[in-house]
Amino acid sequence: MNEKMNRVEFLKNLGLKGAALFAVYCASSGLSSCVNESMDPTNPTGGTAGNQLSLDLTSAAYTKLNTVGNYVVVSGIVIARVSATAFAAVTQVCSHEGRRQVVFNAGEFYCAAHGARFDTSGKGLNATGSRGLKTYATLLDGTTLKVTL
Ligand code: FES
Repeated sequence: MNEKMNRVEFLKNLGLKGAALFAVYCASSGLSSCVNESMDPTNPTGGTAGNQLSLDLTSAAYTKLNTVGNYVVVSGIVIARVSATAFAAVTQVCSHEGRRQVVFNAGEFYCAAHGARFDTSGKGLNATGSRGLKTYATLLDGTTLKVTL
């Protein structure tokens, strides 16, 4: 019998059952099977923190970012041109129910699933969006837009 099973047996002996046992077991074991398998809204790209996306704003795929109000979605990140001098980047995965439906519209981020609204700094603008969105730092270097994951 391995150590994990021993721990379950130990917890059962304490009288824990069902959900209570599961909760205690998961909290104490770090088992991958206890992890929610759905996408992590704080890390939709699965990328390593500190890595960067580099977008060449002269390439056809990204030239729309030269116009205020436009956006692109790259690796699960919504990157918007919010003003003549500024960009904003947020996760495409909504904090409400995890739908991958966040877009940029009329100067704010918006999830079409149930109407969550977020400002360009990821702050919720209505009850549905109250949990906000994870944001990513952007930096324009010449004609290259860098987004730090
Ligand atoms: S999942 Fe986005 S508003 Fe519900």
